[in-house]
Formats: sequence, C-alpha cells, structure tokens
Amino acid sequence: MKTLVYGSINIDMTYHIDHIVREGETITASSFSMGAGGKGANQAAALAKAGADVFLAGRTGSDACFIMDKLKGFKVDTSLVKVDEGPRSGKALIQVDKAGRNSIIVLPAANREQSDDDITHALGAFSKGDWLVLQNEVNGLAGLISMAKAKGMHVCINPSPLDEMIKELPLQDCDMIFVNEEEGAMLAGKGLGATTDEVIGALKAEYPGQVVILTLGKKGACHISREGVFFQDIIDYPVVDTTGAGDSFLGFYLASHQRGLAVEDCLYYASKASGIAVSRPGAMDAMPFREEVFPKD
Ligand code: RIB
Repeated sequence: MKTLVYGSINIDMTYHIDHIVREGETITASSFSMGAGGKGANQAAALAKAGADVFLAGRTGSDACFIMDKLKGFKVDTSLVKVDEGPRSGKALIQVDKAGRNSIIVLPAANREQSDDDITHALGAFSKGDWLVLQNEVNGLAGLISMAKAKGMHVCINPSPLDEMIKELPLQDCDMIFVNEEEGAMLAGKGLGATTDEVIGALKAEYPGQVVILTLGKKGACHISREGVFFQDIIDYPVVDTTGAGDSFLGFYLASHQRGLAVEDCLYYASKASGIAVSRPGAMDAMPFREEVFPKD
C-alpha cells in the first residue's frame, strides 16, 4: 500500500518572541530560524518517519531544494514534486511565543499553481487501495478527491487552513477528515462558542459516512464514526513549539491505521508523536522517528 501526499512545501521562517505581536506593535525576537515546513511536506515527513511508504507531489522553487534533500533523507519519494527554477517556493512567517503557541502567515506561491496535468500525472502512479492525503495549501483539491475516488483510493484530508472554499469540496467522498476544534465547529456549521460535545454531535450528524478525527489541544483527541466516539487524553510533554503538531498527529495516526492497529492504539501513538513533536523546535525536524513512538516489533 502506497501513500501519496499531494501538498504544500514551505520555507518556514520562525521568530521566537515573548508574545504574538499585536496590531500596531513592534517587538524584538529572541531568535530566528529558517526550516523545512508546509503542511503537505510535514505530513509526508511524519508518515515516512512513522514507517509508511510515502510519495510527495506538489510544486516548489529551487530555493526549497534543502527541503527536498531533507525529505529524501526521511525516505519520502519526491520524484513527483515539480521544482521551478528560482525563489518560487511557499513561505511561512511563523511567530512562536514563550508558551510554544504559534501564529502563521502563509504565502502559497508555487503551491497554488498545480495544473490539471500535474495532478493527473501524479495520480497516475497510484491505484485502488492506495491513500491520498490532502490539506488546504494547494489548489485542485476537488479534482484530486474525485480522481482518487474514481481509482478506488482512500482519501484523507486535513482541510487546514480552513476557508470558505472548503464547503465546496466533496468531503463526503473522503474517508478520513482531521480537524481541530475550531475547524470542526466551522465544518459542522457551529459557531465558535459551541461546546466540544456540540461539535462532536454536529460532526457526527454532518459526516455520517466518514471517520472524523478531532484534535482538542490540551483536552486530547477523539475519533468520531458510526461505531461511536473514542477519546484519547493528551500525552503531556513540555511545550516548546506547537508548529506542525497536527501534521505529526495525522502522519502517525494514518501510519498506525495502515499497520492495522485498533482505533485506540492509533490515537495513542498519534498523540505520543505530536506530544514529542511539540517538545522540540521546528516542524518536520521536531517529529519523532518510529522507534521513539512505537514499541519494538
Ligand atoms: O502545520 C504547520 C505548517 O503550516 C508550517 O510548517 C507552515 O509551513 C504552515 O504551512
């Protein structure tokens, strides 16, 4: 079974600051780092680190070659990534405060320039039973979902960053939907004041044919499906940087599912992986390897 992540590749420019900057304010950062990120690239890295057979497809610039090299080092197959000459890669401006919370601005650049031919070409290498993993940082999501479904592939989506366009997507054709509480509330048509139980109930009603995995920050995570709702408490690690925690969670959850593990185990290993990831700085660099998460075979 192969997994194709069709997704974004960003150069993450991270400023460590005391607090997230307020309107009209100028603040001094204590440090700066430039690293490998993008939700798609992070998901591919997490899946590979968790031991899955992963391919990344997308579009970037030659300024992101260091990210391609890093992904290859994690054993992600990057042969389906189109690399344009020049500084064409996506960029993320990230603030991380002293509690590890972040605030991110993304410039999509080449990530949002996938052509129909790029998509058809990438999906050509996959067939029934393979997985397609998506997020909302590339264009062409509706086409990707319907083409993958027509081939009999499984589709997993984290519709983040959430925008109005998401409501137009055939999410009922996806098998797994990963959302945080805020995204879950929006997808289920609930306001931000909704309680967790209300969000769970609304997601269950709105997506009866899907597995929805809701990450709840400090409250843990839960798996919502026809079979019921399973909760997993947070696995606590000291928080240094929460960037990419959701990507780490998704990668380890899906890799565990592909290994045939029970829902409770998938949730546990995904929570452990994201717990370890937030205890270290950066996005894909912070994600653990499988030996740190799974017991020895
Ligand atoms: O999910 C974290 C990622 O979101 C960062 O790596 C940044 O590039 C943005 O895409």
